[in-house]
Amino acid sequence: MDESFNFLSLVKARQSDRRFDATRLVEPEKLNYILEAAQLAPSACNAQPWKIIVVDQTDLAVEIGKAAAGLGMNKFAKDAPVHLVIVEESGNLTSILGSKLKNKYYPLMDIGILASHIALAAEDCGLGSCILGWFDEERFKHLLEIPSKKRVLLDVVIGYSLNQKKIKKRKAFKSIASFNKYK
Ligand SMILES: Cc1cc2nc3c(=O)[nH]c(=O)nc-3n(C[C@H](O)[C@H](O)[C@H](O)COP(=O)(O)O)c2cc1C
Repeated sequence: MDESFNFLSLVKARQSDRRFDATRLVEPEKLNYILEAAQLAPSACNAQPWKIIVVDQTDLAVEIGKAAAGLGMNKFAKDAPVHLVIVEESGNLTSILGSKLKNKYYPLMDIGILASHIALAAEDCGLGSCILGWFDEERFKHLLEIPSKKRVLLDVVIGYSLNQKKIKKRKAFKSIASFNKYK
């Protein structure tokens, strides 16, 4: 396959960026592009069990970034000019029924895929990103007026990266995939 510009090139280029240029804002058209890619993400029974809170006001983004830091984690988050904060919403009847009957919690999977769309779309716009699962959920709820009973699952930080491209560390193919039987 021609790899000059294809999906795999995009996948290879995306990485978790942990240094952002706090002085460079994200252009609205790039943000719209990312949000369109997010809106088109697949989900079980097309339930789309999420709300995305776009944090692009500088002061608020800094506060949210600070709330993502702790125990040495995510110190960089305060420099990201945009946070896409993903709140879990209820699924639809079929996805809830499917989750129960098959004993699988689809919203977590759905939101993981959503985050992946966001990160890849950001890369496609020349932006860096990092998916964060570590943050002070209660502080996020307070700052963003999220009802207390909701779950805030992920925060995808986006901005212009100051990181170099890194070599990806991944398990060997044979330890993650097998043909025709479990190995
Ligand atoms: C659900 C999820 C939660 C994550 N949470 C954090 C986080 O809180 N802080 C962080 O620096 N990276 C976080 N990451 C990024 C992973 O550490 C990263 O994807 C992994 O090490 C692979 O590196 P790469 O993204 O550069 O390919 C998270 C990734 C995922 C998918």
